[in-house]
Amino acid sequence: MKLNNNIIKFYLSGDKSIAIRALILCIYYKGIHKIYNLPNNDDVKSTLSVLNKIGLKFKLIKNGIQLNSTKLKLNNLEIDCNESATAARLLMGYFSGLNIKTIIKGQKTLKNRPMERIINPLKSVGVNIKSNDQLLPLQILGSDYLKPLDIKLEIASAQIKSALILYAMSINGESKIGGLIDTRDHLERMLLYNKYPIKIKNNEIRILGNSNNIKNLNIKIPGDISSASFLICASILSKNSNIQIMNVCINKYRTGFIDVACKMGAKIIIKNKRNINGESVGDIYVLNGEKLKGINIDKNIVPNIIDEIPIISILAINADGKTTFNGISELRVKESDRLKAIISNIKLMNGDSAELKDNLVINGNKKLHNTTISSFNDHRIFMSFYIANKLINKNYKDKTNDNCYQKTFPNFIDEMDKVIN
Ligand code: S3P
Repeated sequence: MKLNNNIIKFYLSGDKSIAIRALILCIYYKGIHKIYNLPNNDDVKSTLSVLNKIGLKFKLIKNGIQLNSTKLKLNNLEIDCNESATAARLLMGYFSGLNIKTIIKGQKTLKNRPMERIINPLKSVGVNIKSNDQLLPLQILGSDYLKPLDIKLEIASAQIKSALILYAMSINGESKIGGLIDTRDHLERMLLYNKYPIKIKNNEIRILGNSNNIKNLNIKIPGDISSASFLICASILSKNSNIQIMNVCINKYRTGFIDVACKMGAKIIIKNKRNINGESVGDIYVLNGEKLKGINIDKNIVPNIIDEIPIISILAINADGKTTFNGISELRVKESDRLKAIISNIKLMNGDSAELKDNLVINGNKKLHNTTISSFNDHRIFMSFYIANKLINKNYKDKTNDNCYQKTFPNFIDEMDKVIN
C-alpha cells in the first residue's frame, strides 16, 4: 500500500466505552486514581458528573485527570445519567450489588431505551427494582438477600455483561456469566490487568465478589475507534485525503468495521500494534479512493460492528451493487431506531434501501443529492449522513444546527473539514 505525501495525522480522545468503565472502577476501588486521555464528550461528562455527585472528587493534571474516591456518600442516591445508556445500565449493576437505594433517571433518548435486559437478570438474584414499565426512571430498592449470578446471556450486549460483572464484584461468592458474552471486553481486560479475580474460560466468565477493593488505578485510554470509523470511512470515500490515526483502541470486538470495509475493497492497514493497560492499541492508515463493492454482512459479526452500521451504510450507498446487513434488530433500540433512520435519510438523498424484517438492504451508486439531515437526535445517524452529504458537496453545512454529535465526538465537524476538503 502506497501513501502519498498529503497524509493527514489525527490523535483522537479516549474511547467512550473504556472511559465510562474506568470512571466506574474509580468508585469501586477506594483510592487516588489517574486517567489519561479521558474524552470530553457529553456521555463521559454525564458519567463524571453523576460520580462527582456521590463524592468522587477530581482535578485536572497534565494530559489527564486525578480522581479521589476515598470519601464517597453512598446512601439513598438519586442520579441522572442524562443520555448515557452505558452509564445508566452499568451503574444499575454496580449500585444493585452494593444494595444501595438508588433512583436512576435519564433524559431525552435515554428515556426510551429498554432496561428490562438489565432489570430481569438483577431481579433473578434478589434485587428489588421498580421501573417505569421497563424504562427509566427506575428505583433500586433495598434487598434482604442478594446472591451471586449464574446466568446465560441471551442478548449479545456488552452493557448487560458489564452491568452484571459490576454487580458480581460486590457480592460474596462466585458469579458465573455465560451465553452470548462475545462482545467488547474492556471491563474484563481492565480487571485482569489490575489482577482482579476474574476468569474467562470455555465461554464463561467467573467473578469472585468482594475481593480487596483498595487500589490506586492508573489508566491510559486509547483513542476512540468508533469516532475513528467516521474519519476512516470519509477518507476511503474522499478523492484526496489519505489519513493516519495514531494510538487507537483496536480491541478485536471493535474493529469489525475495518474487516467489512476491507471486504468491500478499502485499503486500511494497522501498524505499530502494542498493548497498553491490557488493551490492544495501534496506528491506523487509510488509502483513499479505492472502488468499493457491495457485500453480504453476516449476522455473526453484528455485535462487533454494532455502532458502525450507520457509517458502513454510507460506504454501501457509495459502493457498486447490493449490500445486505443481516440480523440487525438491536439497531432498533439505540438512540433511535437506526434501521428506520438510515432508510429515511437514504431516501431523502434519493438513494435506494429497504428493510426486510431485521435486515437492511442497500443498493449502491445511485445518483445522490444533498439534503437536510434527519438525525432523530442520534449522534451516529447525524455524523454518517453529514459525511454522505459533504462527499457530494464539500461546502455542505448542516442548516439545522443539530449538535447531537457532541454526545461522543465534540470536534467532529472540524476534524471532518480536514478529511473532506
Ligand atoms: C457499549 C455497548 C454497545 C454499544 C454502546 C456502548 C458499551 O451497546 O452500542 O455504544 O460501552 O458497553 P449494547 O451493549 O447495547 O450492544
